Amino acid sequence: MDIEVRHFDNKPERCSYALRQTEALLAAETDMIAGLGNVSALLNLLLPDLNWVGFYMQRDGGLVLGPFQGRPAVSHIASGAGVCGTALETGSAQLVPDVHQRCNHIACDLASASELVLPVRADGKLYALLDMDSPVINHFDEEDLTGLQPVADAVGRWISRIGV
Ligand code: SME
Repeated sequence: MDIEVRHFDNKPERCSYALRQTEALLAAETDMIAGLGNVSALLNLLLPDLNWVGFYMQRDGGLVLGPFQGRPAVSHIASGAGVCGTALETGSAQLVPDVHQRCNHIACDLASASELVLPVRADGKLYALLDMDSPVINHFDEEDLTGLQPVADAVGRWISRIGV
């Protein structure tokens, strides 16, 4: 598999490149673990300054760790707990500029300083979360949120297509 790693200073261009590459990677994939594993590896390659990127899967109203790149992480998160559990409970993206200021943040890697969590959904169902951590405070902003939500949406449509 030959992924061209292109570097962009411009976030919208970087995000749209990540979206095209994600769609290409998933186009012929039919296995959940293989597809999500490859998407986490792809985003780790294409997005700068991440120390953790991967998926939490919605299971029975809570979250279970899915494919990821980074240090071992908490494997089960209840709805409402931490940044990811808040995203699950509210169904909304979570942009955390400084995790040390977020009282319910669950630290998986002490290096993490900022976090972006995006819902992975399709047909009104939340299948998973795409979680990204950076060792840089204020790393993520609204451009990342709006630019990377289409990547999470593409993953959601793919999960809906292949079935869970
Ligand atoms: N920080 C997350 C936990 C998952 S790790 O970042 C991989 C949270 O507070 O839910």
